Amino acid sequence: MFCGINRVVMRNNRKIMIAGNWKEHLNVSQASHFMHRLEESIPIRQSVETVIIPNVLILQPISVNLDRRKFRLGAQDGYFVDAGAYTGEVSMAMLQDLVHYVLVGHSERRYVFNEGDDVVAKKMQAAIRNGIMPILCIGETLQERLARETKQILHNQLTAGLMNLTSREVAASVIAYEPVWAIGTGEFAKPDQVQEAINYIRKQVESLFGKRTASLVRILYGGSVDDLNAKSFLELSGCDGALIGGASLNQYKFAAIIEVAYRVQQERLGR
Ligand code: PGA
Repeated sequence: MFCGINRVVMRNNRKIMIAGNWKEHLNVSQASHFMHRLEESIPIRQSVETVIIPNVLILQPISVNLDRRKFRLGAQDGYFVDAGAYTGEVSMAMLQDLVHYVLVGHSERRYVFNEGDDVVAKKMQAAIRNGIMPILCIGETLQERLARETKQILHNQLTAGLMNLTSREVAASVIAYEPVWAIGTGEFAKPDQVQEAINYIRKQVESLFGKRTASLVRILYGGSVDDLNAKSFLELSGCDGALIGGASLNQYKFAAIIEVAYRVQQERLGR
């Protein structure tokens, strides 16, 4: 196992995170070429935590030569039963020595694969049980936004996802606000919509788990983030990074977003 929850809370206290979700793209050789180019484009930036989230086949080969000063690995999914007769599944237990993070409740899992809040809750617990930090994705559909149900949806998905976790475990987790209508569409949310959602999520965490937990949990934005709009999200108050799909498959865009994050973090630290 890579890391206990304690170590992450201590070491990565609201460190800005840039996570690249490669989704169902790149085979093993394409990924190793791309990783090579990415490593050349990205300098070591200690104040930014860069997480690569490739498909499960790529995790093992990439981990062999990974420059751990620059990157951490995450999984796109993991099953909640550690081992058993579950054909086709890869459990959190099997991922635990390969990844630091795992996405849970990504909208493509919720809406393409019909994963409900009950499955999301079990995956959150399985991730934590196996020492992997979950990145819980929550967000409303366009229909729900238009019906003014955004806060209710965020509340429901958050409460269900964090159910049965301790405040310490929540503090070590990451929450990604990803409005479904902004994912892969090029139609990113407006910064004030993201600010409102982030404030709401942190308030909800505070009322469920207390002030200290709310001040420790990292909250990211995801949905059509690229090198041109990243700054407008990363400089929002309480925004601790970005979850990036499409632009993470372009070495120049992804490297540029990491540089933006580095500069925003330096400004925050008053340097
Ligand atoms: P996108 O994907 O950046 O391509 O919109 C984001 C995500 O799926 O997390």
